[in-house]
This record gives sequence, C-alpha cells and structure tokens, in this order.
Amino acid sequence: MRVSIIGTGYVGLVTGTVLSDIGHSVTCLDINEEKIALLQQGKSPIYEPGLDELLEKNIQEHRLAFTTNVTQAFKDAQFIFIAVGTPQGDDGSANLSFIEQAAKDIAMNVTDDCIVIVKSTVPVGTNDRVEQILRENGLPHIQFNVVSNPEFLREGHAIRDTFYGDRIVIGAELDEVSEEVAVLFQPLNIPIVKTNRRSAEMIKYAANAFLAVKISYINQISNLCEKVGADIHSVADGIGMDSRIGRAFLNAGLGYGGSCFPKDTEALSFLAREHDVSMSIVESAIDANHKQRQIFIQKVLHHFDGNVQGKRIAVLGLAFKPNTDDMRDAPSIDIIRTLVHYGAEVTVFDPVVKVTSMLENISITYASSLEQCVEQAEAALLVTEWPEFVHADWSELTSRMKHSTIFDGRYVLHNSQKNIEPKIITHIN
Ligand code: UDX
Repeated sequence: MRVSIIGTGYVGLVTGTVLSDIGHSVTCLDINEEKIALLQQGKSPIYEPGLDELLEKNIQEHRLAFTTNVTQAFKDAQFIFIAVGTPQGDDGSANLSFIEQAAKDIAMNVTDDCIVIVKSTVPVGTNDRVEQILRENGLPHIQFNVVSNPEFLREGHAIRDTFYGDRIVIGAELDEVSEEVAVLFQPLNIPIVKTNRRSAEMIKYAANAFLAVKISYINQISNLCEKVGADIHSVADGIGMDSRIGRAFLNAGLGYGGSCFPKDTEALSFLAREHDVSMSIVESAIDANHKQRQIFIQKVLHHFDGNVQGKRIAVLGLAFKPNTDDMRDAPSIDIIRTLVHYGAEVTVFDPVVKVTSMLENISITYASSLEQCVEQAEAALLVTEWPEFVHADWSELTSRMKHSTIFDGRYVLHNSQKNIEPKIITHIN
C-alpha cells in the first residue's frame, strides 16, 4: 500500500520505517531540508537503537523515501499519516498549528480519495477539526476520511515497541474505514482496539497520565520508605506482583521527564479545566514530579551543609532516560542549573549526549569518559540510569574521587554494587 508520513520526528520516522519494513511503499515528508538530506543517505537524525540499520535496508530496497516536496510526498497516497509535533503552550494546552498546517497541505495537494491518520498526540476533538479543514480546503469531489491512531512507542525502544506493541488503537467514525487501516497494520499481528475518534484521542492521554501517576505514586512511597527504613525495591516488587498493579513503571527515582509525560499530563489537566472536570489526581502527580527533583537537590545541598561553592560535583547522565539523546525536560537540567547557581564546579558525562544547547549559558565541564567525570569529585550524582553507569567498576571509580559519595538518583546501584563500600546515599533521607 502507498503511505505518506508528514513529520520525521520520533513517531513519524519510526512509524514510516517500520511500515516500509513490513512491505508498504512509504514516503516521509518534512520541511527541514537538512534532516531530509541526512535521511536520504540512510542516516537517522535521532539516536534510536536499531533505526539506522532499518532505514538503510528499506531505502536500499526502494520501499522508503524522504522528501521536502509536498506534491511528491502525497502522490498516489492511500494513507497519509500526520505525525507532527504538538508542543505545549504557556497555559499547558497543546499547540495545534503544525497539525492544522499539515491538514491544509494535504487538502491543497491531494488529488485522490485518501485516509488521513492522525498519529500526533492531540486533544479530544482535534480529528474533527482536521476533517473540517480537509473539507473546507480540499477539492469538492475528494473524499477524506480521518482516523485517530495514537502512538505508544517509547524513545530508546521505539523500533521494538512498533513491531511488538501491546495494542494498536484505531479511532474511526466508519467501520469500513477502520477496517482499511487495520489491514495496513495487519502484518504486525498486534491486537487492535477499534473505537471512535474521540475515544482514541482520549486513550492516549489517559494512558500517559496513568503511567505518570504510577511513577509519582511510587516516588512518594519511596520517600516514605527512606524515612521509615523500608526498602523501595522490595516494596515495588511486592506490590508489582499483584497482577492488578504490575511491576512496570514502579521504578522510583528522580521522576519522569521527556517529551510526552510532562506535556500530556498538562494537556489533560488543561482539557479537564476547560470542561470544569476535576483532574486532581493527575495534577498531584505533576506537582509530585516537580518536587522529586527538588528533594534530590536539597539532599545534595544538605550533605554539603548548604554550601557547594567550589565543590567538584560529577553529574552522570544528561538524557532524560537511557538509550536516548533526548534532553527535553530532563531532570539533569534542573539539577545542574541549581548546583551551578550555588557555585558548584559541575562536570558532566553522558554516553550519548556529548554537549547540549539546553545548558548553553551554564558553566560546566563536559568530561569525555565516566572516569574523567568522577576524577577528584567530592560527590557523584547518578541522574540517568545508563547501563554503563549501573554496571561500572565503582570501586575503581570511587578510588578516583576525593570523597566516595554517590547520590543514586535512580535507586539502581545497590544491587549491582554489593561488593563496594562507597557512601551511597539514595534518594532521600
Ligand atoms: C512515554 C510512553 O511510555 C509512551 O507510551 C508514549 O508514546 C510516549 O511517552 P517515553 O517518554 O519515551 O515514552 O519514555 P518512558 O520509557 O515511558 O519513560 C518516561 C519517563 O518516566 C522517563 O523520564 C523515565 O525515566 C520515567 N520513568 C519510567 C520512571 O521514573 N520510572 C519508571 O518506572 C518508568
């Protein structure tokens, strides 16, 4: 089948690549010429394990192409995916200008009937708006059907999640349209949830907000565990074995960041306020998530009796989570900014993020290795749980430090580092 994808961010690029890999003929469109030039050479502009290989293979086999040309992108397309960004506005609402522009581009360039599939995370009712734009701006004889198909892939696991997802949600107003989209995904052999568009839109927000609530919940439990001498790992395992709860997303630590949970929880709260419905559970989760970073920073400051002036502090990890180079809403940003503000000499190391514009005006040193990062440090802060940090030789690393104090912001060292005696201070006292 002929597929076009608008937007080559995480969602668009991975979706397009996987759809080409299962046999469809896919053209991806983006306005960013630099990005498209890179992709045409089979190089991914984002760090995502396995993506480069898959890109190269499908480009070579002529199933996957990239363009900045709208006419070329939509030529003979049976399905057009919209996978553009929906950035957060100042009031927490989602900015839909890229979605609306994509809908106009489709309307003004498509010459045959097609199904438009909205993959971007959009507030309930946006698919209706997309349909309206298509009708108002498209040629009168063309039939556009709009389908909501939210994306659930995680960065760092995006390829795997797309091939082996738990479910595919198809929100359509007509059964026959829903069926056509199901056929597109059929080779993936993933269970399909068919529903209407508004429910599909809501499923995405409700899923992400639920996971955010789960994380904030376990973080608050972990704060209490430290006070009362309980072990958060055993507690998480113990409650996670209840199949009604599940162990996933019960890893306590610095809380969630990234491009989705912070934005989607705010957007859901905004939507609820607009409709005068209480979303206090999600709002509390947002608040608890902000506080979790502050609690960690306070703990570091407290350790130095409130004075980190001139103290050499190693920050391990910049990306918001392992296996990605994404810095959006990464806890490292708040932590580093605050420590530098209080006069600490901060050295950072991340296996993938070598330098970041998010810390442009902040005076920090980028180390080229983990060893170099911790050299003569008075404390090391484990902020992102990269496997190379978790399984590092910490007895060797701590021997390089001035003081062997480690703040484990992700509660990951206690198991892998049973044989060493650094002063591991977990998250909270
Ligand atoms: C998330 C959703 O999982 C995905 O379905 C959606 O499509 C996009 O948003 P992503 O942001 O890529 O994916 O990362 P994810 O692995 O879900 O982690 C999100 C955040 O939660 C990270 O900051 C991570 O560190 C944090 N997290 C996750 C925890 O703090 N504890 C956990 O147990 C799990």
